[in-house]
Amino acid sequence: MRKAIGVFDSGVGGLTVVKELIHQLPNESIIYFGDTARVPYGIKSKETIIRFSIENILFLLKQEVKLICVACNTVSSMALPVIRGHFRVPIVGVISPGAREAVYATKNRRIGVIGTKATINSRAYEKEIKTLDSAITVISQACPLFVPFVEEGWLNERAVEDVAKVYLKPLKDARVDTIILGCTHYPLLKAVIKKVMGSNVVLIDSAKQVATEVKQILSNDGLFEQNNSKPQRLFYVSDGPAWFSGLAKQFLGYPVKDVTKVNPIS
Ligand code: DGL
Repeated sequence: MRKAIGVFDSGVGGLTVVKELIHQLPNESIIYFGDTARVPYGIKSKETIIRFSIENILFLLKQEVKLICVACNTVSSMALPVIRGHFRVPIVGVISPGAREAVYATKNRRIGVIGTKATINSRAYEKEIKTLDSAITVISQACPLFVPFVEEGWLNERAVEDVAKVYLKPLKDARVDTIILGCTHYPLLKAVIKKVMGSNVVLIDSAKQVATEVKQILSNDGLFEQNNSKPQRLFYVSDGPAWFSGLAKQFLGYPVKDVTKVNPIS
């Protein structure tokens, strides 16, 4: 029987990770859950994020997934260290893959990290980078207005650039040569971030790295799909399936028609 990769996020942004998973693992089935009824997670407390994450994982386990990919940076930084020990299924988050890639990429050992308030306050990326190389300087900046801009489809507008200039000034002043896009939505703002920071700055897209890590685990654990039939792609949300479908194309590159509304705790 086919067993899918389970992916969850606070909402629609995790589709940036799904896009990469499909690209790197085209034969694998994917079951996605977006907690659109309770988004955003980025401003919520640690206890709440842990509770929501456990509920989302239990929902995916009921769908018999073989691995869970936490696409959300906020969940990965706040909840993952606590919840990982409670489940037997492999759970992959976005922090270590992104941090590793940034440490590999930086030449001047000055790395910028941008994310939601919760992600930045957790200092998860910073701690992971420092574990890998304690001599690296990390400059972190929360960019809370980026998520609503992306969800409005504002990717290149003047207003986005003006806000980006303010948010990114400390990173520019610190002469970082590498920036971790520590939020599901930020890969869609790559063009504007490059415009503000200059084309030489390396942008680390955690979606790419996490898909590579999932591939590695499936390979190590002998979990690759053996069946050659068409892989399934199922999309569940906790609210607003039409809203999700409307935005999905922007994140995934193609429209998602069948989105099912579920209550993860029922
Ligand atoms: N998915 C979240 C993240 O990657 C962004 C949206 C939210 O705040 O829930 O941090």
